[in-house]
Amino acid sequence: MQFIDTHNHVIPFVDDGADDWDVSLEMLLQAQEDGIVELVCTPHVLTSKELREEQRFIEKFEELKVRAKEAGISIKLHIGSELYVQPDFDFSCKLATLAQNGRYFLMEFPMSMIPPFVAQHFFNLFAKTHTPIIAHPERNGGIIGDIQKAYDFVKKGALLQVTAGSLLGVFGGQVRLIANQLMDANLVHIIATDAHDVTRRTLKLRQAYELVLEKWGPDRAEMLFWSNPRKIINGDEIDIGEPRELLPEMQFRPTLQTRLRSFFRKGSEY
Ligand SMILES: [Fe+2]
Repeated sequence: MQFIDTHNHVIPFVDDGADDWDVSLEMLLQAQEDGIVELVCTPHVLTSKELREEQRFIEKFEELKVRAKEAGISIKLHIGSELYVQPDFDFSCKLATLAQNGRYFLMEFPMSMIPPFVAQHFFNLFAKTHTPIIAHPERNGGIIGDIQKAYDFVKKGALLQVTAGSLLGVFGGQVRLIANQLMDANLVHIIATDAHDVTRRTLKLRQAYELVLEKWGPDRAEMLFWSNPRKIINGDEIDIGEPRELLPEMQFRPTLQTRLRSFFRKGSEY
């Protein structure tokens, strides 16, 4: 089985991902060994100004492509970004949509909550032209506290990207539980690495793929690790199937400790 990754921080010197070129190349070598054949680099873009100054990201990306080729890495590389949520996005920027597909963009919320403007009017701003992919909802304090919000976002047109490590328990049992609940409710459309390094948050998908294969079957696994990532890169329509509402008894109540940990989480954890 081969995989496509649509969320990682493998480009060095642009965010809290790879520390240097050696780490970048080691991440790519791990990915290649794992079966990843294509990926979209998604550096954090925190502001509109940063998005307009995308050239500095593109230069590092071009250098990564050259260095990867020299190192014998054959993974096909694209660029996009992980946009920090804000009331407006400039979709004319190259980095705004994943692999310049013109339609799907990867977006993250603050880890501890969902800003009020998102519920009020956010989705109406671009619903006719662009589709947000919400990064790691299972790690967001607002969704952990009210998982039904995940269903509401999908009904408003968003897609949800769960992180492979969340299913494997890298971020603890509570995040794993939310990721499982989202999977059970058919509220996950793509699984990606969100890789930052070569030790804890790695550029690997196979272990999570095998878990999904065992628990949710081959069709689901193929869709989440291959065909949906392919459609996103191509800008093609994704069939979201029939998402289910999350019943009150499925609701996870975060402990005070969880909420505090989420609130004070450091940038490097993003
Ligand atoms: Fe990320």
